[in-house]
Amino acid sequence: MDVPPFGETIMRSSEFEVRVVEDVEALSHEAARAIVGLAMEALQTRDYFSLALSGGSTPKRLYALLAQDPSFREELDWSKIHFFWGDERHVPPDHPESNYRLAYEAMLLKVPVPTANIHRLRAENPDASMVADEYEQELLTFFQPQQGELPRFHCVLLGMGSDGHTASLFPGTSAVHERGRLVIANWVEKFQAHRITMTPPVLNNANSVIFMVSGEEKAETLRQVLQGEEQPDQFPSQLIKPTHGTLLWLVDKPASKLLTLQG
Ligand code: 6PG
Repeated sequence: MDVPPFGETIMRSSEFEVRVVEDVEALSHEAARAIVGLAMEALQTRDYFSLALSGGSTPKRLYALLAQDPSFREELDWSKIHFFWGDERHVPPDHPESNYRLAYEAMLLKVPVPTANIHRLRAENPDASMVADEYEQELLTFFQPQQGELPRFHCVLLGMGSDGHTASLFPGTSAVHERGRLVIANWVEKFQAHRITMTPPVLNNANSVIFMVSGEEKAETLRQVLQGEEQPDQFPSQLIKPTHGTLLWLVDKPASKLLTLQG
């Protein structure tokens, strides 16, 4: 299969860049190139690369590319990559809806990453709040932030739902307003279930945040998020504004069709 061409930057500001690619295959290649680049950059000065994965279906191809395409797989020192999840469903790790299971089956079981580098949420625990508390402690233990500082991921990968959510920050839910905790259990009425999610402060503390958005069904929401009024309660993806990092929106053509080019 030919390597898809690089994306075209259609919007760039001091806050973010929007790069459009043809389709989800090109989106996956572009994200893989970005992650490999960030990992190589991080490992020049650190002995680890911390990556928070997203769930849902869009990143599945990306995970498979990282694990199987030699132009990516061979560029990564898997022994130094630490995998986290930006959010997780309140289900066991072998459940079809588990974000951990998605990444494990598509990538982690196929690469030489040490088990200790896989920081899974223990979402099998029936007490969702305890899952969040434990994961928050895992972040603090791993990153050892100074007093008053937050864990800082080298890279956070995010998706966007057609309702404007990201991670498990869903419109109208309490997690949207959480600024004190790093990880919380968020009751999502429409699922009649908890999701466990990192909160805006820790997501925004990342060195690099990469959104992957694919599909025409997200075009109107993407337009609202990027070019509409600031309404983060309704469009929680608008909450993602890295405080001292970069924000890259990788979107395919169908998802970008309603964006107006910067004049
Ligand atoms: C999850 C994800 C979620 C996802 C969006 C987009 O747990 O589902 O973390 O935030 O990224 O829902 O999902 P798709 O990529 O499947 O459209």
